[in-house]
Amino acid sequence: MAKQISPSNIAVIGMEWGDEGKGKIIDFLAEKADVVARFNGGNNAGHTIEADGKKIVLHLIPSGVMRKNKLNVVGNGLVIDPKVLLQEIEFLKKNGIKINTENLVISENAHVILPHHIEEDRKIGGTIGTTARGIGPAYTDKAARIGLKVYEFIDDVMFKKRFGDEEFYQEYKKYAESIKPYVNDTSLIINYAINKNQKVIFEGAQGTLLDIDHGTYPFVTSSNCTTGGVCTGLGISPKKIQSVMGVCKAYKTRVGNGPFPTEITTATGQKIQKIGKEFGATTGRPRRVGWFDSLVGKYAVMINGIDSIAITKLDVLTTVEKLKICVAYKHKGNIIKNFTTNIKILQNCQPVYEEFDGWWDDLTKVKNYDRLPNNAKKYLRRIEELVNAPISIISVGPKREQTIVARNEFMF
Ligand code: GDP
Ligand code: IMO
Ligand code: MG
Repeated sequence: MAKQISPSNIAVIGMEWGDEGKGKIIDFLAEKADVVARFNGGNNAGHTIEADGKKIVLHLIPSGVMRKNKLNVVGNGLVIDPKVLLQEIEFLKKNGIKINTENLVISENAHVILPHHIEEDRKIGGTIGTTARGIGPAYTDKAARIGLKVYEFIDDVMFKKRFGDEEFYQEYKKYAESIKPYVNDTSLIINYAINKNQKVIFEGAQGTLLDIDHGTYPFVTSSNCTTGGVCTGLGISPKKIQSVMGVCKAYKTRVGNGPFPTEITTATGQKIQKIGKEFGATTGRPRRVGWFDSLVGKYAVMINGIDSIAITKLDVLTTVEKLKICVAYKHKGNIIKNFTTNIKILQNCQPVYEEFDGWWDDLTKVKNYDRLPNNAKKYLRRIEELVNAPISIISVGPKREQTIVARNEFMF
C-alpha cells in the first residue's frame, strides 16, 4: 500500500480494544467525504458523535449520518440485528437526522442476527464478557455456512422456507419488509464511487486487539476489525485502499475480560476513568484503564499499514502528574519489545515504563498544535517515535470542533 498525499479514501481503524473514538474522528473526516462505509461487526459497536448540539451513539449505521448528503453503506462484513437497525433508524429520525434510501444502503450479503443467536450469546458469552448481542453466534453460523443472508431474509419465500415454523417468524417478517427498500449490491456501489474518485471512508468497528485473527484470542470479537477486513467486508480490492488512519486513545482502555498488561489498578486509574467517562457506549460497563502501550501501537501500525494516527482524549490526561508509556514487557527475566497475541505471555508480563511530566492546562479549547503545552508535545512526539507513525489528528474533547489537525497531508 503506497502512501498517498491527500488520499481519495481513508480506512479508519481502531488500534486497541475498541472505543478509541472512531465515531468522532469519522464524523470529523466525513465533512469532505462522499461515502462512509462500515465493514465489520454489528451492534456490539457504539460509536459516539457530538455535533450540532446533539450527542448520538451509533451501533449499526455508519458515522457519516450526522453530515448532510453523504451515502452511508452497511457492508457485507456485518451481522445485522434487523430489530436494532430499525430502532436506530427511528431514533435518528426522531432526533432530526434524515435517513432514507438515498443516504443509507445495506448489503444484501450481510448476515442476519436472529433471536436464537442472542439467546446463545447470553449463555456462552460470559467468560469472554461479550456484549450479548448475538454477534459471535451469528458469525459462527456464517462460517458454518448455515447463516441467513439479508437477500434471503427479505425474500419471504426463502425466509419462510427456512424459518416459517419459528416463533419469531411473524415479527421478523415485518422487519424484513421495512428493511427491503435499503438493500442493494453495496460492493458495486462502493467500487463505482471509488472509480469515480469520490471520497470514501471505510469505517472500522472494534479494534486491532479485538480482531478474530490478530487480537488477544479468545478475548476478541468474531470479525476482522483490521485493514484486511475492509476488503472482505466491503468487496473491494486491497489495491484500492489509499490510506489508513489508526485511531488510538492517549491512554488505553478495555471493556470485557482478557489480558491488559498496562492496566492501572491505583487511584490514578480511577481518576482517568472518571474524567474520561470510561463507561461503555453499548453496555454501560466500566472500561478498564491503562497507560499508553507503545508495543500495542507499533503492532497496530504493522498489522494495518497505518499511515497516520488520530490520537483522542488527550484532554483527559490534564492534571495527571506523571504519565507513563510502556516501552517493553518483561517476561520471565526476558525483555520483549514486540507485542504478542500469546495470552500466556501477555498475562504474565510486566510493563517497562518511561515516565513523563504531565501538564495542568485545559486543552479542550486548543485549536492548533503549537498551542499545546510543551509536556503534551513531548508525550506525543515520543509516541510517534515508538509506534513508528506520525500523528495527523489530536482530539481534545468529544465535540466535533475539539479537533486539531496536526498534519494536513493525511486528510482529504
Ligand atoms: P468508538 O467506539 O471508537 O467510536 O468510541 P466510543 O464512542 O465508544 O468511545 C469514545 C468516547 O470518548 C465517546 O464518549 C466520545 O464522545 C468520547 N471522546 C472522543 N474523543 C474524545 C476526546 O478527545 N476527549 C474526550 N474527553 N472525549 C472524547
Ligand atoms: P466499538 O466499535 C469495545 C468487546 C466486548 C468483549 C469482546 C467480544 O464501539 O469500538 P462481542 O459482543 O463482540 O462478541 O464481544 O469484544 N467489544 C467491544 N469493546 N468497543 C467495541 O466496539 C466492542 N465490540 C465488542 O466487550 O470483550
Ligand atoms: Mg465504542
